[in-house]
Amino acid sequence: MTGLRSAAWYAGHRRDAYIHRAWMRRGLPDSAFAGRPQIAIANTASDLTPCNSHLDEVAEHVKRGVWEAGGVPLNLPVVSLGETQVRPTAMLWRNMAAMATEEMLRANPVDGVVLLGGCDKTIPSLLMAAASVDLPAVVVPGGPMLTGTFRGVPLGCGTDVWRLSEEVRAGTLSERDFHESESSMIRSRGHCNTMGTASTIGLLAEALGTTLPGTAGIPAADSRLLARAHETGRLVVEMVAADRRPSRVLTAGSFHNAIVTLAAIGGSTNAVVHLLAIAGRLGVPLTLADFDRIGADVPLLVDLQPAGRHLMEDLHRAGGLAAVLHEVIDLLDPDALTVTGQPLVEFLGDARIWDPDVIRTRDAPLQPHAGIAVLHGNLAPNGAIIKPAAASPELLRHRGRAVVFDSIEDFRARIDDPDLDVDADSVLVLRGCGPKGYPGMPEVANLPLPPKLLRQGVRDMVRICDGRMSGTAYGTVVLHVAPEAAAGGPFDRIRTGDVITLDVPRRTIDVDLSPDELAARPPSPAMLAAVARPSRGWERLYVDTVMGADTGADLDFLVGASGHEVSRESH
Ligand code: FES
Repeated sequence: MTGLRSAAWYAGHRRDAYIHRAWMRRGLPDSAFAGRPQIAIANTASDLTPCNSHLDEVAEHVKRGVWEAGGVPLNLPVVSLGETQVRPTAMLWRNMAAMATEEMLRANPVDGVVLLGGCDKTIPSLLMAAASVDLPAVVVPGGPMLTGTFRGVPLGCGTDVWRLSEEVRAGTLSERDFHESESSMIRSRGHCNTMGTASTIGLLAEALGTTLPGTAGIPAADSRLLARAHETGRLVVEMVAADRRPSRVLTAGSFHNAIVTLAAIGGSTNAVVHLLAIAGRLGVPLTLADFDRIGADVPLLVDLQPAGRHLMEDLHRAGGLAAVLHEVIDLLDPDALTVTGQPLVEFLGDARIWDPDVIRTRDAPLQPHAGIAVLHGNLAPNGAIIKPAAASPELLRHRGRAVVFDSIEDFRARIDDPDLDVDADSVLVLRGCGPKGYPGMPEVANLPLPPKLLRQGVRDMVRICDGRMSGTAYGTVVLHVAPEAAAGGPFDRIRTGDVITLDVPRRTIDVDLSPDELAARPPSPAMLAAVARPSRGWERLYVDTVMGADTGADLDFLVGASGHEVSRESH
């Protein structure tokens, strides 16, 4: 193959080429450096990212395909983020992972890359990196885990943790039984098996066109995933030959298809910040409003937890993503390409629903309008979001008295207090949890309810937060309030006792205060005291430069692309 980027390292008889080749040989023959595409496998396998710990085996199968197609596969371990393990929140490190991967792809002699991710932040960070380097790139999602059961009942990974822990707080489940369920939660390799963030992003990677069609959603333990990894290895070599780069694949049409998919599968609200961030790397003018405009009227077709009943293994058995997209094919952009060079819609022709209990047909949806709703008002001038499919229908129009918490610590210190002045109509407000405030925009917005209300049988309340919600959580939760409290704006001015009106059908979120009243109030001293002010390191850089959730919470200087050119050489 001629014109390869890696030839700038390996071609010719210069001293530098000698050095590059000599140190890489270690068993590689001369032919490895003679016009063969060098394919990085950006691999987020890590023992501390348990959802991705099987990716080394997936990488071995990618390698087989790369060799078979005439390329040279090169494992490139990259920053990995275990959602349940890293503190204070994996989201703080998403942009760091993206930046590190971007720089390592640019710095090394590679012509294309296979992206191996799974756990929540890993595929977003890999796609952000690949978009900014703009080398041919294809994703292999690591796949969901198999369904675990406890006492004969399926356990939804994540979702049932919230449910069971609420039962303990309500006194309807013993701590002993709660503990016993723990060993049944994770049955196999793979990421969470609900329609949480990892499942959502894996499926959206395919809807965006960045996977070999038919790959996303294959359970991690299913041998067909390894076969797909092998085929993906072959594909990336072809992509290098065709110069099929992210800037040619990821278009406005791709993001349109991702938003339609997000609604049809009932996907995680976290997808909003990730899609905005990826689009920002490509210069695709995606905005918060597009999620409502494109997705709001798309029907919910997939009956998966947390909004529904089934799990990812069931979705795959029922026909998978292709069967879902076949039902909404008329809503998809017919021209949006995949990494194969062919449009996404061309891969949907034979798709069928094998179990209509899991994947509904278009004429019998679970909900007729399922997309993310984008709210505006004097509480969130730059926007906030809610997932109506995971909310209580009777709370989508609600008016109630605010009970305000200035940090997650403040919330935890007071929520169990039997004297807390709160009732079922109250609106729980948590601030100081945005990208700058926490920092890192943690998944804390699905606030546990006060025990005294749980004992009364209350199972949902309106909650409002400038942070995020776990994709495996549910409830009437207004998220991603922008501007966040720590960045100034009305969300840092409201007080306990203010009356808040949520009207999702009208897309509004307001506090009963005039502009003058809001402007006259100082920011909450307690919130300001709780906001992080890191003095050094990544956190300092992050807090100084992170943008709002309404634009994807990327760092301001990482928006856009730098391409893959590197002109200087150190030897
Ligand atoms: Fe990794 Fe849920 S914790 S996907």
